[in-house]
Amino acid sequence: MRNSSSSLSSVITSSNDDVIMEIDEASEPQGHNGMVVSAHVAWKDVNVMVTPNNGDTRNILEGLTGYAEPGTFTALMGPSGSGKSTLLDALSGRLASNAILSGKILLNGRKAKLSFGTAAYVTQDDTLIGTLTVRETIYYSAQLRLPDRMPLSEKRTLVENTIVDMGLQDCADTFIGNWHLRGISGGEKRRVSIVRK
Ligand SMILES: Nc1ncnc2c1ncn2[C@@H]1O[C@H](COP(=O)(O)OP(=O)(O)O)[C@@H](O)[C@H]1O
Ligand SMILES: [Mg+2]
Repeated sequence: MRNSSSSLSSVITSSNDDVIMEIDEASEPQGHNGMVVSAHVAWKDVNVMVTPNNGDTRNILEGLTGYAEPGTFTALMGPSGSGKSTLLDALSGRLASNAILSGKILLNGRKAKLSFGTAAYVTQDDTLIGTLTVRETIYYSAQLRLPDRMPLSEKRTLVENTIVDMGLQDCADTFIGNWHLRGISGGEKRRVSIVRK
């Protein structure tokens, strides 16, 4: 996801440095009996780079800037796999261990080292086995579902063709992922589920 190329970023980056400055200077969190009742979240020049299992590195988010105000409803829009969940992971301090985050994340104008639990969001569901890669999932499924009389080499070819047909080449060696292992995107999961069916 890049600022210039996706509908998600164009929505959340219609503001820029001015907004960040404004939020930078925002007042302390409003408190009631010592409890924080609202939070301004802002992010500037956020980049996330991941190293999937095949050792290559990949930039998932590039130079994202935006903000979310309390008491408002903010929509992140972008195609499947464009990095919406990765941005939420970055903002809530729950990126996978193979991901490197750079940039500035501000909570009520303060640079926040967000540890897990400070911020949270509800994730998408899945019914796949998180510790298998996309290719393994499809291959095991093919072995279980395709007729015994079909040669293994033919099954392998079918699996590889299906991965390409479904546009899953880029994440074929990525784990599906689960609650503690960040993997492929929600849309990619849906496509893997369709392939299995
Ligand atoms: N930790 C990771 N390791 C490898 N690839 C990842 C990781 N996190 C995200 N990705 C890849 O980054 C892309 C964006 O994923 P995601 O943020 O889940 O997209 P979405 O916009 O659908 O929520 C996908 O192609 C996904 O496979
Ligand atoms: Mg998602």
